[in-house]
Amino acid sequence: MGMIDLRSDTVTQPTSEMRRAMAEAEVGDDVFGEDPTVNRLEAMAAERMGKEAALFVASGTMANLVSALTHCQRGDEMVLGTDAHIFVNEVGGVAAMGGIQVKAIPNDSRGKLDPETVEQAIRPDGLHFPSTGLVCMENTHNRGSGAAFTAQEMGAVTEVAHAHGVPVHLDGARIFNAAIALGVSPSSLAAEADTLNFCLSKGLSCPVGSVVCGSAEFIAKARKTRKMVGGGMRQAGVLAAAGVFALEHMVDRLAEDHDNAKRLAQGLAQLPGVVIDPSQVQTNIVIVEMMEKPPLEFISELKERGVLANYNLGRRVRFVTHHGINAEDIDEALDASEAVIRGKAHAG
Ligand SMILES: Cc1ncc(COP(=O)(O)O)c(C=O)c1O
Repeated sequence: MGMIDLRSDTVTQPTSEMRRAMAEAEVGDDVFGEDPTVNRLEAMAAERMGKEAALFVASGTMANLVSALTHCQRGDEMVLGTDAHIFVNEVGGVAAMGGIQVKAIPNDSRGKLDPETVEQAIRPDGLHFPSTGLVCMENTHNRGSGAAFTAQEMGAVTEVAHAHGVPVHLDGARIFNAAIALGVSPSSLAAEADTLNFCLSKGLSCPVGSVVCGSAEFIAKARKTRKMVGGGMRQAGVLAAAGVFALEHMVDRLAEDHDNAKRLAQGLAQLPGVVIDPSQVQTNIVIVEMMEKPPLEFISELKERGVLANYNLGRRVRFVTHHGINAEDIDEALDASEAVIRGKAHAG
């Protein structure tokens, strides 16, 4: 029996057309700037995000790291929310590799930063203080149940940062999900940050890759940082071809993932001891709180019934919809969840 894998949208597999595009990609040595497919992907990404230039990197983690290292000096401080992926899930890379001190400030349950709290976190000039080198936002917000923030919400934070001369980076791993949920262009959200990255290897179904976007000057510096962290790739057009294909063909369908996530949330909300407000599900991430059954037990029993979900710390279990999941899979996942919650015997 095939598993219904709702652990993450990173489990998506390249489609056969995408694989064909990869196999047929025109390539060159990208460290020499000679890979036409990488150059094409970078130009497309910059154009979609309304920025001057872009840089193809291996992963979202590398994109955030390269961006932070390029914005900040060693000893600088970087302001972000306590639930930010960079703070929680990226192995402390900015501290380990960049000597950057993270100032994590409370965000709300959706991952939103309060502009006033951001302002208070920005250091004044002074002999004793670290310099605030960067403010980071995340849209959609992973630990915030895939919340999508409007340009206006982002802009309020950016205004404060810029008023203090501090640049803003957007971890836009799922920026296309945010744009689709809000019915706006990704560039209108990207406009509220100096730099951003987005991931190709999540809902867009590519096997590898993320793209950093920003000014031509920033991207030239980031290119050097990428080389420093070992991210200079050679005939990377084979990978970039998947990205080109994804930007052309895989973006609009993300709306289906959002519909499936809502369907899942509505079903889960009916189950006793499972807390979720389906009206809060905006994109492809559904996080429930298990009030009675221990989350790890729930996940393990679900697995026995062919459904995979992810533990999200505390009482939280996360489900993510994606290209490999359709409405029938959601209904099966709901049946399995109900059976586990109601403690029905499992035939094996
Ligand atoms: C918001 C966010 N940023 C960054 C990343 C890191 O991406 P990668 O797994 O490609 O390193 C993720 C991965 O899930 C993410 O959700």
